[in-house]
Amino acid sequence: MDVNKLNEIAKKLVAPGKGILAADESDGTIKKRFDKIGVESTPENNRIYRQLLFKTSAINKYISGVILFDETIRQSTDEGVPFSKYLSDHGIIPGIKVDKGIKELYSGSPEKVTEGMDGLSERFAEYKNMGAEFAKWRSVITIGEGLPTDDCLKLNSELLASYAKACQENNMVPIVEPEVLMDGGHSLAKCEEVTYRTLKAVFASLESVGIDYSGMLLKPNMVIQAKENMTKASSKEIAEATLRCFSDVIPETLPGIVFLSGGQAPEEATNNLNEMNNIGFFTELSFSFGRALQEPVLKAWAGKSENLKLAQDAFIRRAKMNSLAREGKYAVDME
Ligand code: 13P
Repeated sequence: MDVNKLNEIAKKLVAPGKGILAADESDGTIKKRFDKIGVESTPENNRIYRQLLFKTSAINKYISGVILFDETIRQSTDEGVPFSKYLSDHGIIPGIKVDKGIKELYSGSPEKVTEGMDGLSERFAEYKNMGAEFAKWRSVITIGEGLPTDDCLKLNSELLASYAKACQENNMVPIVEPEVLMDGGHSLAKCEEVTYRTLKAVFASLESVGIDYSGMLLKPNMVIQAKENMTKASSKEIAEATLRCFSDVIPETLPGIVFLSGGQAPEEATNNLNEMNNIGFFTELSFSFGRALQEPVLKAWAGKSENLKLAQDAFIRRAKMNSLAREGKYAVDME
């Protein structure tokens, strides 16, 4: 493992003013996103849409890396340039989702465990050959009556740690993503408590396998009330709770935290990130958004080639707003 190289890549991914585009929707997820705009998800339509994102002019000013899905890393531009090469040529680091999605923890359980350990080493080697320099593994944690259970936290944390270790051994930067879901009606305080428990468990497992934190990034949820909770916290409350929750769990050598958006409205996610950067933290606070970067793009595109420019404008706009939020220079009235 080349620790210096991993640290260099991790630092590039969280370079000031830049963040990551999560474009690694699985077959099922991209279908859900396309259903909303009346577009059929086929490998070719998926390719056309992802090409629209990657070819957005000057997007490398704001985007440091892109997380790809297995299908996408095997696809190319209209000119036949593999997407991972196209991105690298434009100064954007290609990454890859390596988990294989989630399944029930036990039969009938509302909790989930992430699959994908089988053949992981071979996949790392193949993706590395295809140009990927970092990877992602997502675990989901559900809040509910008596949930999450210790079993769920332990198993998912151990899997995240095994994945991260194998990733570093293959000289790729692991993005470790424990996502506490926004589903349900729980409060911000409950989310803070569960996020803290989750991060404690995850870092205990990472520690036990000997992860080099300088060559890793954490992709957590923000501490926020659930979707169905009508007591909306202010961005200041969300930012303060998130950083309070992180302050004694995040190792000092971690180059950065790249938040997921988790179903927040795009402007909301941007504003919360901005607020956190206003407060400041000892490590970079950046983004690795899927929906919060892509929702307006999908709407503008609607599967029609004549909307290409409109959709790319929407993408660069969201990327720019999030770039400003990286510096605490975003304001809601810029929207
Ligand atoms: P969202 O920003 O839409 O939550 O997606 C991020 C991601 O990569 C989920 O795994």
